[in-house]
Amino acid sequence: MTRPRNDNFIRALHREPTDHTPIWLMRQAGRYLPEYCETRKRAGSFLQLCKNPAMACEVTLQPLARYNLDAAILFSDILTVPDAMGLGLYFTEGEGPKFERPLREEWAIRDLTTPDPYDHLRYVMDGVCEIRRALHNSAPLIGFSGSPYTLACYMVEGASSSDYRRVKTMIYDRPDLMHKILSVTADAVIAYLNAQIESGVQAVMIFDSWGGGLSAAAYQEFSLQYMQRIVAGLIKEKDGERVPSIVFTKGGGLWLESIADIGCDAVGLDWTIDLGEARRRVGHKVALQGNLDPNVLFAAPDKIAVEAKKVLDSYGPGNTGHVFNLGHGISQFTPPEHVAVLVETVHDYSKGLRKI
Ligand code: CP3
Repeated sequence: MTRPRNDNFIRALHREPTDHTPIWLMRQAGRYLPEYCETRKRAGSFLQLCKNPAMACEVTLQPLARYNLDAAILFSDILTVPDAMGLGLYFTEGEGPKFERPLREEWAIRDLTTPDPYDHLRYVMDGVCEIRRALHNSAPLIGFSGSPYTLACYMVEGASSSDYRRVKTMIYDRPDLMHKILSVTADAVIAYLNAQIESGVQAVMIFDSWGGGLSAAAYQEFSLQYMQRIVAGLIKEKDGERVPSIVFTKGGGLWLESIADIGCDAVGLDWTIDLGEARRRVGHKVALQGNLDPNVLFAAPDKIAVEAKKVLDSYGPGNTGHVFNLGHGISQFTPPEHVAVLVETVHDYSKGLRKI
């Protein structure tokens, strides 16, 4: 496998020198783009869009057609895995994801099995193949999965939650049942990410959106431990190229050193931590990805440029090992022209930093 023509993203993850700081945005294909809304309407629903490889490919490429982004991310959702485990995923307008059969009974948890990614999630693998063909090796394709704990939050609550009451009750009352869910889900995620790698993704990212809501001890036991197991189980090399992994725990800044220790190539950071401080804490053990507050994109273009430069300056000199991103997904209310300002600023300003 030859590296993509724009390999700045892959190089940054390997902490090799780059021409500029590469940038991509979490949820870069989404409702802030009118062309995404148009394709989604044609698909009928968000889930039908995810399950149609040709349309998933189309929306994956939309942000790259508009902006000079340095990576594409597979268009899908983390909740396709529990859907494939038989929980029955559906979306209600304005209320987010829901499961028809959340895990509430002990027998249902004991019956949980790992789905075959080439069978139940075939549409994702078909999408990956189609996207790789359409990219013509111009930019790398990122694959992804949810972390077992974040997936378990939805599987047990049955929907988004403000307090994770049911999940936390299970953690403290029946840790054996929670470990059973996490263990089966971790195996499912390993098989799923490896199938994505076999199908052509060139890097993988694990989204641990809700791990940051755990106590320090519970985070280690119920989230990090399982992500470590996943990283250890991933295919490390494909066609002579290392396939880098990124681990992102939103709100995980406090535990940065232990996250950097699990064997991943990069750690994703939200905006609550200073990047320079993060880098000092982990040295060059891992690359760092982040960490602009997505709400900055609501400000005027000149203010966006100022804030983007602050992030680049905070990472500091010797700028290898940084992938610019937002600290969480882009909001659906973001003006699309503001994203262009961000991408151009990151490219231009970081090129200048390399000349100093
Ligand atoms: O980054 C990308 O562009 C890739 C696609 C992607 C989506 N979801 C598309 C999506 C990725 C990587 C995800 C991950 C995801 N999904 C996470 C982890 C990251 C995070 O945001 O914390 C989580 C927790 C989910 C679960 C999920 N999916 C929720 C809570 C929602 C509803 C929230 C909302 O914005 O409405 C979704 C739906 C979803 N996933 C949308 C998109 C573009 C919006 C759906 C639409 O078009 O209506």
